Amino acid sequence: MASFESGQRPLTHVRYESANSPYGAGDPYYNQSSGFLPPQKPKNGVSNWIKFGIPVAILVIIGAVVGGVVGSRNSGGGSSSKAVSNDPSAVASSAVGAKSDVGLFATGTDSFYMMPLYPSTTNTAIFTVPTFLTTNDSRLAWPSDPFQPANPSPTQVRTDRPRLIAPSYKWEVLPTLIANDPYLSYWNETIFGNAGILDVCRQVKERSKAFSYVYRMTNDSAWVDRTWLELQNAAGNGTTPWGPDTDKWNSVHFLDTAECSAGYGIAYDWLYDMWTDDQKQKIRFTLNEFGLTPGVNAFVNGTIGWWSDDNIKGNWNCVCNNGLTMASLAILGDDTTGNAEQLLGLTIPNALENCVFAVSNDGTWAETANYWYFGTTGWAEMTSSLMTATGSDYGMLTNNPNFNFTGLFHLYVQGSTSLFNYGDHGPNKFSTTANSMIFMSEQFKNPIYALYQREQYDAPDPWSMFWYDPTISGAFWDGTALDYFFDNSTDQWTSMRSSFTDINALYVAMKAGQLVNHQTHNDLDAGDFVLDALGTRWAGELGSGNYLSTGYFSSDDQDSQRWLYYRKRTEGQNTILVGQANQDVTAAPSVTHGSSGTAQGSSTVFTVPDGSTAYWVANLTSAYFNVSSFSRGMRLINNRKQVLIQDEITASQGIQWRMHTNASVTISGTTITLELDNQTLIMEVLNAPNGINISTADAVRFANDPPLPPGQVDQPNPGVTVLTMDLPPGSYTLEVLFNPQWPGMSSSDFKTPPNVALSDWTLTSHD
Ligand SMILES: *[C@@H]1O[C@H](CO)[C@@H](O)[C@H](O)[C@H]1NC(C)=O
Ligand SMILES: *[C@@H]1O[C@H](CO)[C@@H](O)[C@H](O)[C@H]1NC(C)=O
Ligand SMILES: *[C@@H]1O[C@H](CO)[C@@H](O)[C@H](O)[C@H]1NC(C)=O
Ligand SMILES: *[C@@H]1O[C@H](CO)[C@@H](O)[C@H](O)[C@H]1NC(C)=O
Ligand SMILES: *[C@@H]1O[C@H](CO)[C@@H](O)[C@H](O)[C@H]1NC(C)=O
Ligand SMILES: *[C@@H]1O[C@H](CO)[C@@H](O)[C@H](O)[C@H]1NC(C)=O
Ligand SMILES: *[C@@H]1O[C@H](CO)[C@@H](O)[C@H](O)[C@H]1NC(C)=O
Ligand SMILES: *[C@@H]1O[C@H](CO)[C@@H](O)[C@H](O)[C@H]1NC(C)=O
Ligand SMILES: *[C@@H]1O[C@H](CO)[C@@H](O)[C@H](O)[C@H]1NC(C)=O
Ligand SMILES: *[C@@H]1O[C@H](CO)[C@@H](O)[C@H](O)[C@H]1NC(C)=O
Ligand SMILES: *[C@@H]1O[C@H](CO)[C@@H](O)[C@H](O)[C@H]1NC(C)=O
Ligand SMILES: *[C@@H]1O[C@H](CO)[C@@H](O)[C@H](O)[C@H]1NC(C)=O
Repeated sequence: MASFESGQRPLTHVRYESANSPYGAGDPYYNQSSGFLPPQKPKNGVSNWIKFGIPVAILVIIGAVVGGVVGSRNSGGGSSSKAVSNDPSAVASSAVGAKSDVGLFATGTDSFYMMPLYPSTTNTAIFTVPTFLTTNDSRLAWPSDPFQPANPSPTQVRTDRPRLIAPSYKWEVLPTLIANDPYLSYWNETIFGNAGILDVCRQVKERSKAFSYVYRMTNDSAWVDRTWLELQNAAGNGTTPWGPDTDKWNSVHFLDTAECSAGYGIAYDWLYDMWTDDQKQKIRFTLNEFGLTPGVNAFVNGTIGWWSDDNIKGNWNCVCNNGLTMASLAILGDDTTGNAEQLLGLTIPNALENCVFAVSNDGTWAETANYWYFGTTGWAEMTSSLMTATGSDYGMLTNNPNFNFTGLFHLYVQGSTSLFNYGDHGPNKFSTTANSMIFMSEQFKNPIYALYQREQYDAPDPWSMFWYDPTISGAFWDGTALDYFFDNSTDQWTSMRSSFTDINALYVAMKAGQLVNHQTHNDLDAGDFVLDALGTRWAGELGSGNYLSTGYFSSDDQDSQRWLYYRKRTEGQNTILVGQANQDVTAAPSVTHGSSGTAQGSSTVFTVPDGSTAYWVANLTSAYFNVSSFSRGMRLINNRKQVLIQDEITASQGIQWRMHTNASVTISGTTITLELDNQTLIMEVLNAPNGINISTADAVRFANDPPLPPGQVDQPNPGVTVLTMDLPPGSYTLEVLFNPQWPGMSSSDFKTPPNVALSDWTLTSHD
């Protein structure tokens, strides 16, 4: 469901925008009428490769890496020898030198897709297997927490402040760690930069985090005053009063209440010693009035507390329980109302039964790839706060033993250009990041997650500063499998690629799964896929409809009004349509698959070995009406340079293959040429069935679709073309081959795969 008010600036995107246009007309992401937009394609003539660049120190590092001196540069003091030592302490001290030698692995980002760019280099000393170094070196590692209660209880908090996420012993060593770690150093600078321009934003939580961080790193009380103003505004006590006198934090949309509560909690706790008693009393009063009292009510009043019901295993449950938990922990002991203590007895058990089970046993987040951000941010903040404030996670880490795998979900759902962004895309992510990956990494002892996330555009964030374990070492891609199969029946899907470190790499992902049990954020999209190659997305998603449309979230029943909207209908997906009808919500697909198990090595320049492939076949018969059998298979051909999608279908209504693309489409017989971003992808229909009609259509509803609710409209899909292939009722095999026109590859280098029935597909069936 709609999470946050729109029109907010995505703070974490700041460093990608042109330096002189933080706000207003000059800002390419600012739209006067609707506020900040998701990133837009640069206009022609604007570089697609704007490097991030404000901190000079980082530019120096980029220069070093791009200059190809990795591994050979002599850094005064640091070791320039990259020989791998078996002595952990020797490895650790050479890592200090190595870290400052190399700096950030990613050298910049793509300004449109915001994906990291990696240097083209082999570095077998640094780009090694992900691990945590064993070290006692206090320049490199956090000390252990002195607060280790023997019998933790949610209402027995540590005696020192802060309690939430960042205890004082961590603040004490942070400057030293920053001085020795290029990631912490870069994030620190970026957080300072964000704090400086936050005053035109209205997000109390983001501001509390950033302002309090900068105060504690500078002792400059101006930041306390700024935070106080922020709290005044959120209380409606600022110079411009706003909102109703009661329920100012909008408890009927409890996410607002929860986020304001978290913001108040952070500010109260992180600046505790700076507030006067009068200020503390006022903060607690307003927090109780607009946050915690509605919070207690939410657990008995379903109108505001529907998110605490046992079937709400999704982001709402995580975000709402988290906000109430952080705020309660912050004022516990000072609170005279009893709300804080009462809520901790409610939020923790509720999150343990609901929030943590939004992750299925393969790690997939049950809502969508985008809602993963909201849910895991809430989960990580709540878990971390409980651990630092009271010394235990109470099962938030372990109650769902498969929560660990949701980091893999995120890693694989991210393609070469952007997410496999099926279903609703959610609101702007301005108050969330993927930095729960860094928390998971430390807690689940899985270095890959933090090594991955530290390269990403959204890594700089106060939470990262405290969650990041600077002893991690290696490269996330070294030894990490290129393919992954997520097999839980809720969301069967697959992810396949040709490299983790090349934004031009091939990436394909396809899903089957149930069409219910996704908190009504999914589409009727079994068989849907995305395809990236040559730095752009060739087959893509349309995203959310208007969340305020009539019936948009009414249900996931077959006759739900949600399924009237084009972007949610089967015709709005990259799959097969039969009789122009929506898929059957009782779908229960099954899948088979295989992979050569290829993993990338140390180098960012990866040459795919001969025979490397993967395939995935979904039986989608149950997803359709008027279909007696239908399986869709996808496989990589020619060492991951080409992709084959094969459909075997018997239907008693007209069949239509559909794919949505931003490319221009030229059809010549059974050859289809797509052109986008100055790149070309040629599709071939192999062994084309007689009577096939290859054509294009607009991404709009059919004239004879059931009507939208009165007064409602579909969102326009400008620039999108639907490539269609129609077949009359009957029994067919439809084979579509995708040939991205890779540089240096001539037409004779492309393979034409043999015609093999899906039931006979193996790893070698197309050699
Ligand atoms: C590291 O600390 C451990 C005890 O925690 C000690 O046994 C070991 O000798 C120390 N190593 C170094 C290199 O100081
Ligand atoms: C953090 O960044 C700010 C802004 O660049 C800088 O002034 C400060 O020295 C940094 N802190 C540390 C510990 O390096
Ligand atoms: C801020 O004040 C604290 C406590 O007086 C002190 O420990 C810390 O070093 C100071 N930090 C800075 C950046 O001045
Ligand atoms: C806001 O103003 C009200 C009414 O004067 C007061 O009760 C409350 O404590 C104030 N809250 C804050 C955070 O200043
Ligand atoms: C539940 O909350 C709603 C929204 O605030 C309110 O209108 C309603 O009166 C409440 N119901 C009860 C029983 O308190
Ligand atoms: C899918 O994951 C859920 C949540 O962990 C679990 O209850 C269910 O049994 C899993 N289904 C299968 C088929 O493994
Ligand atoms: C988490 O998963 C990783 C593999 O993805 C594994 O290495 C690690 O041991 C797991 N940790 C826990 C606590 O299950
Ligand atoms: C078209 O490009 C936009 C970005 O400009 C992207 O969000 C969308 O998913 C793309 N649509 C398709 C169908 O690829
Ligand atoms: C596909 O699934 C259906 C059930 O939906 C089953 O009857 C059929 O045998 C399966 N087909 C294949 C080829 O496995
Ligand atoms: C299935 O086909 C029949 C005609 O054979 C048609 O009346 C019916 O509407 C179709 N069902 C769906 C869901 O399209
Ligand atoms: C495409 O090529 C033209 C001409 O070389 C160039 O002006 C334009 O910027 C390029 N567009 C993209 C998206 O790279
Ligand atoms: C071919 O398919 C397109 C799109 O469905 C349709 O508009 C067109 O009429 C069809 N042409 C023929 C000859 O059937």
